[in-house]
Amino acid sequence: MQEHHIENVLFDAEQIGRRVSELVDDMAHQYQSQNLVMIAILRGSFMFFADLVREVNRHGVHPRIDFTTLSSYGSGTESSGKVTIGRDATVDVAGADVILIDDILDTGRTLSFASTHFLSRGAHSVHSCVLLDKPSRRVVPITADYVGFEVDDVFVVGYGLDFDSYYRELPYIAEVTFTGEAIT
Ligand code: IMP
Ligand code: MG
Repeated sequence: MQEHHIENVLFDAEQIGRRVSELVDDMAHQYQSQNLVMIAILRGSFMFFADLVREVNRHGVHPRIDFTTLSSYGSGTESSGKVTIGRDATVDVAGADVILIDDILDTGRTLSFASTHFLSRGAHSVHSCVLLDKPSRRVVPITADYVGFEVDDVFVVGYGLDFDSYYRELPYIAEVTFTGEAIT
C-alpha cells in the first residue's frame, strides 16, 4: 500500500444526507412502476443504498430489493478493466423496472456491464443512480440517470468507498492524497 493521507473532506455527512433525500425525490416518477426492483452494486454502495432505500419509504412504495457484487478493481486504485460477477442478484427481474445503485461512475465499465446484464435477464427497463460521477475518467460512454455529486479525477474514500478495503466506515467522503512510496 502506498503512503497516503485522508484530510480533504469533499462531502460531509450532512451534505450527503441532503443530497440523498433530493435524489430520492428526483426518482419519484420511477416509483409508479408496479414492478420496481432496486439493486445495489456492492460493495461500495452499501451505505448509500441503505440510506437511499430508507428515504424511498417516504414515498410509500415497496420495491423489491437485491444486491449484486461486481468488481473491476484489484486491490489498488486502478481498474483492471474486466468486470466480474461475484454474486448475482437472485430476484426475478423479468419484466421489472430496475434501478441500479452504485457508489461511483468512473470508467463506466461496471455500470455498462450491469445494465446490459439485467436487460439480458429480461428487465423491462434499467435506470441508474450513482452517488459520485467522475466524468473525466470515462472509457465506456455511459451516463447515469441520477447523480449525487460530480468529482474531479481524484481517488476518494468513505461512505462505503474504499482504498484497499479500508475507510468504508467513514461517514463522509474524503480525498486520498498519495505521498511517497509503497509502505507494504
Ligand atoms: P468503473 O467500472 O471504472 O466505473 O468503476 C466503478 C467502481 O470502481 C466503483 O464502483 C468503485 O468500487 C471503484 N472506484 C472508482 N473510483 C473510485 C474511487 O475514487 N474510490 C474508491 N473506489 C473507486
Ligand atoms: Mg471499490
